[in-house]
Amino acid sequence: MSVNGRTAIVTGAGSGLGEAAARRLAGEGARLVVADRNPDAVERVAKEIRAAGHEAVPFVADISVFEQARELVEFAVSSYGGLDLAFNNAGITPRLVDVHEIEPQDWLDVIRVNLTGVFFCMKAELSHFVDHGGGAIVNMASTAGVMAHAGRAAYSASKHGIVGLTRSAAVEYARRGIRINAVAPGPIDAPSAQGLPPEIRAQIAAKTAMNRPGTMEEVAGVVHFLLSDEAAFVTGSVYEANGGQTQL
Ligand SMILES: NC(=O)c1ccc[n+]([C@@H]2O[C@H](COP(=O)([O-])OP(=O)(O)OC[C@H]3O[C@@H](n4cnc5c(N)ncnc54)[C@H](O)[C@@H]3O)[C@@H](O)[C@H]2O)c1
Repeated sequence: MSVNGRTAIVTGAGSGLGEAAARRLAGEGARLVVADRNPDAVERVAKEIRAAGHEAVPFVADISVFEQARELVEFAVSSYGGLDLAFNNAGITPRLVDVHEIEPQDWLDVIRVNLTGVFFCMKAELSHFVDHGGGAIVNMASTAGVMAHAGRAAYSASKHGIVGLTRSAAVEYARRGIRINAVAPGPIDAPSAQGLPPEIRAQIAAKTAMNRPGTMEEVAGVVHFLLSDEAAFVTGSVYEANGGQTQL
């Protein structure tokens, strides 16, 4: 069994990698809660998934507010009668700036959304999983969570934090039927990169051994694998999907 018939939350599903993962999981038979802080985006994505013949309901939540993360899990349970899977993907990327120039508020915002938001989602999801016999979680890290990312220290710190949170929680919950992994993509041809000039896109591609950015579908494939029973013995891993970037 893959993810067929399982209920899954995807956060940040209104755009980019989260949207691609939501489409992939729904296509594999999962019953989706499409969550994002952008109301128009969740409506659009859920509607398009349903139009393709799959199951999806929208939910508006700012996952950096614990109450909203908790309500998201409650909504999934009340909509489908349970919760089995979660992809905690929502995140923000700050502008390029050296450490001494990071505005204190910008630092706080990145940590609040990227790291604290993932913790808030995990806290709510795990409370349900512990009481209902298990589940699987994938957290969105980044290559910036496993190596230096000059100019984006706050972002890199938030993603390194997600890696530590993932590994520690994986050990805590491994004997309770709960698997927790992270995916760490390198440069991806996501909407945020699609408007960049060709020379910048070439520079970004050259950071990978494959000399190309990944596709959103390639990352969605890793997320699907980690959430599925194919990965039944995989927990605490940080799956790099970066075309060999960290080997150069
Ligand atoms: N694009 C890349 O190349 C890349 C590479 C590695 C990791 N990532 C990570 O993947 C994730 C998604 O990136 P993307 O490129 O698809 O970005 P994106 O901006 O296209 O999508 C992010 C989505 O998250 C939502 N969001 C942001 N803050 C939120 C909050 N507090 N509550 C709920 N929703 C919120 C946004 O509304 C948006 O729909 C991020 O965590 C990012 O760090 C992206």
